[in-house]
Amino acid sequence: MYALFLALHSFFRWLVLISLLYTMLSSLQGLISKRPYNKRDNLARTLTGAIAHTQLLIGFTLYFLLSPVVKHFIQNGSGGEYQIWFFGLYHIALMFIAVVVMTIGGSLAKRAPTDRAKFKTTLIYFSVALALILLAIPWFRPYFRNF
Ligand code: HEM
Repeated sequence: MYALFLALHSFFRWLVLISLLYTMLSSLQGLISKRPYNKRDNLARTLTGAIAHTQLLIGFTLYFLLSPVVKHFIQNGSGGEYQIWFFGLYHIALMFIAVVVMTIGGSLAKRAPTDRAKFKTTLIYFSVALALILLAIPWFRPYFRNF
């Protein structure tokens, strides 16, 4: 079960990154070209949020139920070990904040009064979320895992 969730979580990282980048670039293009905010923009924003929330759920399952690294952290603290500190504290804190920022940005964009404001809000909030996510991804782990 642990290996399966770890592989899923590892794979979902790419979906999170690709969907975020797509939505940001498309918002930037919308802003520059001054085109109307359309159904595809709505779908991209909603899907990106759904993918991030799914990743959050897989992360919580790993954190509270499955991960031996986190179990060690909860029982003994990090003991100055980088990887234990990374997954026990740093990763969950930054990722959680990133998904909250994305969620707030998504709902503000949905309610924004003009198309320009929708694109701008999405771009700003999603950029902050992407920066946090890039900082908190454990790039020292494999980029892909077998299921
Ligand atoms: C957008 C959000 C997130 C991304 C992109 C992300 C990405 C990753 C990646 C790439 C790994 C390494 C997987 C591997 O070793 O193959 C990982 C591990 C892990 N993540 Fe996340 N994560 C996110 C959110 C979260 C959240 C919110 C939590 C906790 C609630 C969490 C908990 C964990 C845990 C416990 C591990 C594995 C520790 C172990 O090796 O046992 N993640 N994450």
